[in-house]
Amino acid sequence: MAASAKVWSDPVTQFASDVRAGLCGKGQKELPSKYLYDPLGFALFEVITQLPEYGLTRADERLLRSHAQEIVRHVPSPALVSELGSGSGRKTRWILSAMCEREPVSYYPIEISRAALASCAAELGDVGCAGIVGVEREYLDGLGEVAALRTGGASLLVLFLGSTIGNFDSGADARFLREVRSILAPGDSLLLGADLLKPLERMLDAYDDPLGVTAAFNLNLLGRINRELDGDFDLRQFEHVARFNEATSSIEMHLRSKRRQVVNVRRGGFAAPFAADETVWTESSHKYTRREIAKLAVTCGFRMEAQWVDDEWPFAENLLVAV
Ligand code: TRP
Repeated sequence: MAASAKVWSDPVTQFASDVRAGLCGKGQKELPSKYLYDPLGFALFEVITQLPEYGLTRADERLLRSHAQEIVRHVPSPALVSELGSGSGRKTRWILSAMCEREPVSYYPIEISRAALASCAAELGDVGCAGIVGVEREYLDGLGEVAALRTGGASLLVLFLGSTIGNFDSGADARFLREVRSILAPGDSLLLGADLLKPLERMLDAYDDPLGVTAAFNLNLLGRINRELDGDFDLRQFEHVARFNEATSSIEMHLRSKRRQVVNVRRGGFAAPFAADETVWTESSHKYTRREIAKLAVTCGFRMEAQWVDDEWPFAENLLVAV
């Protein structure tokens, strides 16, 4: 038992088995989007956040910068701050600085990307009163650990910024929020970012930019399989596709095989066949309405304390309080 648990937890073995499951079955091929963020993928995503067509991150940052004081005023003191997927940490600065105006604060970013944790610690190192402790875990495992650290009457402020909530399959967003709620205590807060439905053209441009950075970011997942699992994907024989699925209200990202081909993944010990035009689904990004977020909050055991929406790029910052 101990031996098999050890083999299973080896990240290369886990990656290989996820890739095999995603590429070798019948039906729609699929790869988990968490694997997009190796060091090169993380760097490319940082560039995406600066693209003129991808207004999402700037909207998130604008809202946090202009409303940080107000957001923090809703959070009971003292509080621990934790973040699910900190990324570079740039957006978190405003919240931490506002918290620091009233008391020293401990900040626990939870990330599977070690590169992100390192950049987050460097970015926020100068926010004087914040103690930063990176947690290299999956979100819920990490949050459980952080929640166990609280002492006395401290409350927890959990940040889930950007639009990661939209990356869950339909229904899985609610399941995830319920799990988060089950780790929290009544009165704890969750600051949840969500990208809103907007005109089709704007949404498509955000996920298929003319410089090709998003295409590179998506294709890098195949490059990562080549590097880490000794695969022989020819990246020129695949192309990035972004399309809007009306039924689920999400942008879907795929990698389309330009021709019929077989790809060997030698460290995984398997080969994956591709038909011409067959796609691998790598990510979905659901676009919410404001009302939908409010409903989601309530069904998951929260009340909507406040909501802020950006004027330039429809995006909502939602402060949920556990009931
Ligand atoms: N979670 C981000 C989003 O939905 C990530 C993202 C941006 C992304 N562009 C992408 C993921 C392209 C895959 C492919 O906005």
